[in-house]
Amino acid sequence: MSELSNMGEILVTGGAGYIGSHMCVALLDAGYTVTVLDNLSNSTSESIAAVQRVTNRTLDFVADDLRDAGALARLFGRKRFAAVLHFAGLKAVGQSTADPLAYYDNNVVGTLRLLEAMTAHQVRTLVFSSSATVYGIPDVMPITEDSPPGPINPYGRTKFHIEQILADLQATDPAWRISILRYFNPVGAHISGDLGEDPNDVPNNLMPYIAQVAVGRLPGLRIFGDDYPTPDGTGVRDYIHVDDLVEGHLAALRYLERHPGLAIHNLGTGRGHSVLEMVRAFEAASGRTIPCEIVARRAGDAAESYADPTKANRELGWRARHDVRRMCEDVWRWQQRHPQGYRA
Ligand code: NAD
Ligand code: WQD
Repeated sequence: MSELSNMGEILVTGGAGYIGSHMCVALLDAGYTVTVLDNLSNSTSESIAAVQRVTNRTLDFVADDLRDAGALARLFGRKRFAAVLHFAGLKAVGQSTADPLAYYDNNVVGTLRLLEAMTAHQVRTLVFSSSATVYGIPDVMPITEDSPPGPINPYGRTKFHIEQILADLQATDPAWRISILRYFNPVGAHISGDLGEDPNDVPNNLMPYIAQVAVGRLPGLRIFGDDYPTPDGTGVRDYIHVDDLVEGHLAALRYLERHPGLAIHNLGTGRGHSVLEMVRAFEAASGRTIPCEIVARRAGDAAESYADPTKANRELGWRARHDVRRMCEDVWRWQQRHPQGYRA
């Protein structure tokens, strides 16, 4: 693994997306050379331009689809990657239920094509973006890596199937070094305010929804249920700043240098916050009022979900540092500077 120690070239699939673009900033800041592969199905190349602006460094951007075996063969033929950070995928839970085949094709088949190209070119170090969604609706909090998996929607099942494919692959060829990172609820934005989350349509997730209400793009927040068995009745989640998340990936890369095999780690703060707490924190950070209406529970939502991050703390030497106040301040800075996202 001397390539990694020598700051070798990293392939970031999905690097134009929300988390991938923040990852590219962290990699470039840490001295890595970066290539991004992204088909821009849920992003724009403006994020790549922003990465280069805030880091004052350049990266190689390849606008291809993960499922295009020819494109992957050309890319792996001309570069020698030390590792792949694999973010590319579709992530909308509702859409995955409406069109499961699109999700299996994009996420599972896309990952298969990537693993085939990596195998053919002897690149065997991979960090995979998995999700707490693989745990489904867990009975016991906090969630450890040993909590039983049980995804309850097609999106979650694509993540779970990919995890199993990775385990099978590593079992047949011990030269593989694979890190599976199960993210809890990524939020936040780069401190510059030039890089952030830019959903294509009306946001599905709480934080970008609140931010668009605060900036006046949406009239008000609908809170999905206030009768959960939680302190204030609204859903509790483990929100983690995207900068902490990407630091977790750098820690995973370092870990893989020392540890061949396959490892699974939760990336969360270990602290849960309710919807109402998040609304209040955003109001404090923005100075704006968020009009709220309580509506029925959203199908498939757990009452609470938060990580036990002890394994990542211990094995990766990583822990989340940013609190909810900082998450809201950074999202607000991004949203104010880019009320219509990158497309404006
Ligand atoms: P995102 O949609 O902003 O980024 C994903 C990127 O992948 C996009 O730029 C998209 O254009 C690209 N992409 C999708 N399919 C592709 C394909 N076939 N070929 C090439 N590029 C493709 O999403 P994100 O929030 O940055 O999430 C990144 C990863 O983390 C995803 O795998 C997601 O499932 C996972 N994840 C996200 C969250 C979250 O809440 N954001 C939580 C847990 C896990
Ligand atoms: C958070 C809380 C809602 C929107 C999802 C995916 C998961 C992962 C992260 C990728 C819940 C409440 C939300 C709104 C609300 N993604 N809410 N009004 O559901 O924990 O996880 O994103 O892997 O797979 O399922 O996140 O941000 O959608 O919801 O009241 O308009 O906010 O009910 O309690 P969730 P979220």
